Amino acid sequence: MQNLFNGIAITGSGSAVPQTCLTNENLTQIVDTSDEWITTRTGIKERKIALAPESLTSLATAASQQALAAAGITAADINLILLATSTPDDLFGTACRVQNELGAIKAVAFDLTAACSGFVFGLVTAAQYIKTGVYENVLLIGADILSRWVDWEDRGSCVLFGDGAGAVVIQANKSDRLLGFTLKSDGTQNQYLNLNYKGTTQELNSSEIQVTQGKFHPITMNGREVYRFAVQKVPEVIDKTLFTAHLQAEDIDWLILHQANQRIINAVAERLEIPQHKVISNVANYGNTSAASIPLALDEAVRQGKIQCDDIIAISGFGAGLSWGAAIFKWGR
Ligand code: ACO
Repeated sequence: MQNLFNGIAITGSGSAVPQTCLTNENLTQIVDTSDEWITTRTGIKERKIALAPESLTSLATAASQQALAAAGITAADINLILLATSTPDDLFGTACRVQNELGAIKAVAFDLTAACSGFVFGLVTAAQYIKTGVYENVLLIGADILSRWVDWEDRGSCVLFGDGAGAVVIQANKSDRLLGFTLKSDGTQNQYLNLNYKGTTQELNSSEIQVTQGKFHPITMNGREVYRFAVQKVPEVIDKTLFTAHLQAEDIDWLILHQANQRIINAVAERLEIPQHKVISNVANYGNTSAASIPLALDEAVRQGKIQCDDIIAISGFGAGLSWGAAIFKWGR
């Protein structure tokens, strides 16, 4: 299978969120917090929480079905499924379950882990497979259920996160509508945001044979350091991407940042001198949905008729790793 074009176009989007809503008021029943604190520090009013039988697979599948319909292709047309997630239903990978649910019989499917940068890293990965001529139709999903891993006794982090999924179809195209990208990682700051595995060593059946077994422990975060990192690195990486795309900030029609905190979104937009009416935000309704946040905001804006074909969109993800990145593309074919 070889495609004849070496450009890419993003041709459809979809999204799905759980049914259950957790408001700031609800959170005051479990930790010492208030609607006023959460609203002024983060802009978040509520978030959606996945309850069984909802799963990462079911949310990712629902978002994907919408994206396929919007792009006007069927599951059988997909060559590659990339599932950006840090919260799989199965640590061996969840993408194949989504492939099965969709009936994407031709597709190869795998998970990609880059926390809240996952969607941007996934977009660039998908583009490489298409630009090298290997695949023609890629389904990229960003989905996370961080409520599974939140420390519900830590008021500094439990108020921030929510669950959801977003998906896009990326297709081979004559002209390249991915205008530029930059990806970054800095493991020296890894300790600021973790969802760590911890194990203890034990002897098996009183023999001298030892194994280490344990479990993953809830999210730990140094909020101030992550905040500082985001407001410095995100404008930098968008600036660099504008430069490589031969564009200026005023050429951007829509800025869609990882939806972590309204104050971070405002600070980045201000530093880039991008006016508020070009900034897409839905953090108030969903909180930080990690890899899902950018495609969820993108899909909402497309369905609201804000984003039109040929609009220039800048996206930027940032988070654990630490990792961050930006991509600039023209919407549609
Ligand atoms: N309710 C009430 N008070 C609170 C709460 C809460 N939910 N949480 C913290 N506080 C208190 C603190 O205890 C502290 O009190 P003290 O001064 O008496 O010690 C005070 O509020 C200020 O705390 P800070 O942590 O300094 O508050 P800050 O203004 O930095 O806001 C926040 C905290 C919202 C977490 C902010 O730092 C932030 O958004 N950081 C970025 C986090 C982020 O985006 N993380 C996700 C990255 S994406 C990924 O990869 C998963």
